[in-house]
Amino acid sequence: MSDDNGELEARLEEQEEFEPPAAFVEQANVSDSDIYDEFEENWPDCWERAASMLDWTDDYDQVLDAENPPFYEWFTGGELNASANCLDRHLEERGDQPAIEWVGEPTDEENVTLTYRDLYERVNECAAALREMGVGEDDVVTMYMPMIPQLPVAMLACARIGAPHSVVFAGFSAEALATRMNAADSEYLVTCDGYYRRGDPLDHLSKANEGLDSVEHETTTVVVDRLGDDGHGHELDDSQHDWDDLLADHEGAEIDPVDRDAEDMLFLMYTSGTTGEPKGVKHTTAGYLSWVTWTSHSVLDIKPEDTYFCSADIGWITGHSYIVYGPLSLGTTTMMYEGTPDHPDRNRLWEIIEEYEATQLYTAPTAIRSFMKWGHQYPDDHDLSSLRLLGTVGEPINPRAWKWYYQHIGDEECPVVDTWWQTETGGHMITTLPGVGKMKPGSAGPALPGLDAQIVDTNGEAVDPGRAGHLTVQKPWPGMLRTLYNNDERFVDEYWREYSDTDSEDMADWVYFPEDGAKVDDDGYITVLGRVDDVLNVSGHRLGTMEIESAIVGVEGVAEAAVVGGDHEVKGEAVYAYVIVEDGQAESDEFRDEIVTAVEDAIGPIARPEAVVFTPELPKTRSGKIMRRLLEDIANGDDIGDTSTLRNPEVVEDIKTTLDEE
Ligand code: WTA
Repeated sequence: MSDDNGELEARLEEQEEFEPPAAFVEQANVSDSDIYDEFEENWPDCWERAASMLDWTDDYDQVLDAENPPFYEWFTGGELNASANCLDRHLEERGDQPAIEWVGEPTDEENVTLTYRDLYERVNECAAALREMGVGEDDVVTMYMPMIPQLPVAMLACARIGAPHSVVFAGFSAEALATRMNAADSEYLVTCDGYYRRGDPLDHLSKANEGLDSVEHETTTVVVDRLGDDGHGHELDDSQHDWDDLLADHEGAEIDPVDRDAEDMLFLMYTSGTTGEPKGVKHTTAGYLSWVTWTSHSVLDIKPEDTYFCSADIGWITGHSYIVYGPLSLGTTTMMYEGTPDHPDRNRLWEIIEEYEATQLYTAPTAIRSFMKWGHQYPDDHDLSSLRLLGTVGEPINPRAWKWYYQHIGDEECPVVDTWWQTETGGHMITTLPGVGKMKPGSAGPALPGLDAQIVDTNGEAVDPGRAGHLTVQKPWPGMLRTLYNNDERFVDEYWREYSDTDSEDMADWVYFPEDGAKVDDDGYITVLGRVDDVLNVSGHRLGTMEIESAIVGVEGVAEAAVVGGDHEVKGEAVYAYVIVEDGQAESDEFRDEIVTAVEDAIGPIARPEAVVFTPELPKTRSGKIMRRLLEDIANGDDIGDTSTLRNPEVVEDIKTTLDEE
């Protein structure tokens, strides 16, 4: 890595704690440490602070209704509209201020600026069009779109008419799209012809159409023409409308934002769990919106005059909460970048930050590890002094990457917030408040004010500082998921059963289990260690091992498969697949490719196995359980400890040899 400032790096290497920079604290949205005590003493009414950041059309009667845990309700009786909160209320003061600065991947194309007024107009036109197509309140509209401005327009248009959206990451496969549309009984799809990736115009509509073929009910589709002349010559059929035509038909339309009950669903987001079937996480209008607004304010320190840049994809929860809803609710300028950080070269991200004078950068550890690998000469060549705060999300960040980010991107002048949270939590849960707490690289920090996070053993008892245990959240919070779509039972089983007295009606007996391991230090700082269920975290993306395994065993000629995560320098984790073939099936490279393709078809390229290892057997306990831990050790080249409890210890050496030969 570095050379010219080796001395500085040596100092940073030793340093385990960092005070928030004084200049930052002085202007921070939240800088008084009393907030922790205040929120605790005043719980749950402390959350009125978050609710008061929103505009309501009808006041709520009660902050928290905990009569039927874990089916909590927040701000009951209140009414509001999320799109009005993200748009209408800003028009008077900042109608001409950019709401979205969009940067396309091709450098020879014009970027798009949508002011709050522009965005308001587009959203109204889209809302009118959707309504005319038949979309009614509570109809789920699926979006299968990359990072183009029409995606947030469509999301806000749905919010405006009270239709929950379900955004499916554009990198997911046709099959994944169909599964989600079927599960949500979604009759509407907004998608696009294609998009640019590393200079190539990708065909997206063929994939969308293939997915639609497997949807069990009638559908209506809206297609954005993203590629123009670079398109793939698609013809739209009768059930498909062109986005531009639709919006032109409704030019100048204004649609009154529908009053939504606080607890009405704002959106669904499917995420991976332990079983093969994705979980439809349900978020509500008031609880979610107040949560992301409050945390965008207190953790990301967003102010209306900022140009805030989150490099996530809107197809994941980070983009929902911290590109779209949180920043727009606060009336700031939020950036969207279509492409990858290394196109056309490794300066791209730093060029964008320099050009737009971005004030915050929120990204993932996997990206930071790539930047580190490329070297600091790229950021060094750009003026990044507009940055005031840095954030990371998605997976644990190792202290070395944290310090690199702090030094080379933040110039030691920006606090770094390492934010732990999940699709299910709606927004930030564990992180330092950047204007309040010291930072400890590698540790996310304490739970946010008003939250109660504890590390417990298998009996649910708090473990001593320094000891690893399971992370739990002991009190409900407004941004929490309300249930899994159409599956209350699975909701209770997945998140609550482990540590709750499920017969109790007292919320003190209900404990949320996010399925992460963690430890806490004497200052109450939590280090999250990673998932304890069968979910992998590949480049910050959640992938269920079961989903991948079921794709593999679906290939003709495969008898059995086990998928585990192996350590990976950049991705954090990588997919390792151990496969037993049926008698007569050749263990060839062609067959390996077939398996890889099956995984890509079922889930998407993000789930592509790093290695497919053919083996005559899988290591199993005497009771027949696959020893996944052992398969992970093999993938990582770690020492394999005692194998005497195995039914078939000899298989371990065989697998190691096969993997080494690859
Ligand atoms: C992991 C992404 C350590 C964790 C917002 C969690 C993290 C899963 C962090 C949720 C962090 C997220 N430190 N681990 N700062 N942030 N995780 O639903 O395992 O895509 O359970 O939400 O990512 O992933 P999801």
